[in-house]
Amino acid sequence: MNILVLGSGGREHTFAYKIAQSNLCDTLFVAPGNAGTAAIATNVPIAVTDFTSIKELVLKEHIKMVVVGPEDPLVQGISDYFKSDNQLKNVIVIGPSKEGARLEGSKEYAKEFLIRHNIPTAAYQSFTAATVEEGKQFLETLNAPYVLKADGLAAGKGVLILQDIKEAKTELENMLTNKKFGAASEKVVIEEFLDGIELSVFVLTDGKNYVTLPTAKDYKRIGEGDTGLNTGGMGAISPVPFADHAFMSKIEEQIIKPTVDGLAKENIDYKGFIFIGLIKVGNDPKVIEYNVRMGDPETEAVLPRVQTDLVKLFQHVGEQSLDTITLDIDQRSATTVMAVSGGYPEAYQKGKEITGIDTVSESIVFHAGTKLEDGKVVTNGGRVIAVTSFDDDFRQALKKSYQNIEKLHFDKMYYRKDLGFDL
Ligand code: AMP
Ligand code: GLY
Repeated sequence: MNILVLGSGGREHTFAYKIAQSNLCDTLFVAPGNAGTAAIATNVPIAVTDFTSIKELVLKEHIKMVVVGPEDPLVQGISDYFKSDNQLKNVIVIGPSKEGARLEGSKEYAKEFLIRHNIPTAAYQSFTAATVEEGKQFLETLNAPYVLKADGLAAGKGVLILQDIKEAKTELENMLTNKKFGAASEKVVIEEFLDGIELSVFVLTDGKNYVTLPTAKDYKRIGEGDTGLNTGGMGAISPVPFADHAFMSKIEEQIIKPTVDGLAKENIDYKGFIFIGLIKVGNDPKVIEYNVRMGDPETEAVLPRVQTDLVKLFQHVGEQSLDTITLDIDQRSATTVMAVSGGYPEAYQKGKEITGIDTVSESIVFHAGTKLEDGKVVTNGGRVIAVTSFDDDFRQALKKSYQNIEKLHFDKMYYRKDLGFDL
């Protein structure tokens, strides 16, 4: 069958890489894609939220499956768009309905869902401009640090963690009254701070059944030792060594099952990935967020470990028969290290030539922000290339990723050299 992947990052290159390996895939399209996807699929210059052009492409190319990478098209309802169109309704869309996507699109919605289904999470209250004074009083009842979250999508920047109560009150005011994050912060969730180590769990569900994909940990800060500004992610390790069998059972019973059952009970149409951000507090998992897609760069470490045919898995999602397939996972660890443009996550330059890609051995190169220009691969974003490696021991896998990333070059290339330091 012909398949379309929507997106242009390392996550989408990884999807394309796995899908291209499947016998079930005839022609693979990626919109808009990058220089990496161009080498294994047909890139089509269509934006991920341009539903009309996506429809035209799907009909013209007889596409039968659409795999949605980023959250934007999901939050804007691409899955419902397909379902409600007579010509598109039989296309399998991997990604939840608009209602399901609210789990990521609204922090308050996600918190209410968690509470309704008795899923462990941080205590919280939410506030608007009309209740900013109550919000300040609520802050008085908490201990530092203070966690303020813009309700809506804010490109990963909407969470503030502040030590000082005065600063927390000022920022609350900035978010609610001065719309620091635009419409996204018209509502703010104030949350209890959870002290512990983070990990992410990935679930693929057909709305009734699910499979649990390998865990991963990503490194969000730009600086070594987890310092500096938040990024989209500087690298990832899968599996997370401390997520042993006993801990995973807790996650399954207390979090995954009630999440999937909760979606079904509420008649929320959900066929796609659920990315559950967790903090291990003592010995217990607590949810800090849901995303309604795979993570990036977690995908670059998680998906290469999945040995089951990805297209087959997605077909089972479409047919709501995930209970009849077993997931084979490569037991080795996978690590991915992200090379970024100097200056990222603040201002940076694009269009720098990337060399050395063909000298990489024993690692997989996934393109993120790259494009082809006059036959050359050049940088086209903050996060540029992810280098993924395998080994029985994650430290050895990391070593391979580092040995290979050193073979790459572009002007002002930067990467974190300390991944796994906390494990
Ligand atoms: P989120 O966008 O909700 O994942 O939050 C971004 C980051 O803020 C997370 O990856 C955590 O590191 C941190 N964070 C969010 N909520 C909490 C919390 N309640 N306690 C401690 N850290 C948090
Ligand atoms: N790496 C974090 C995310 O994809 O949201």
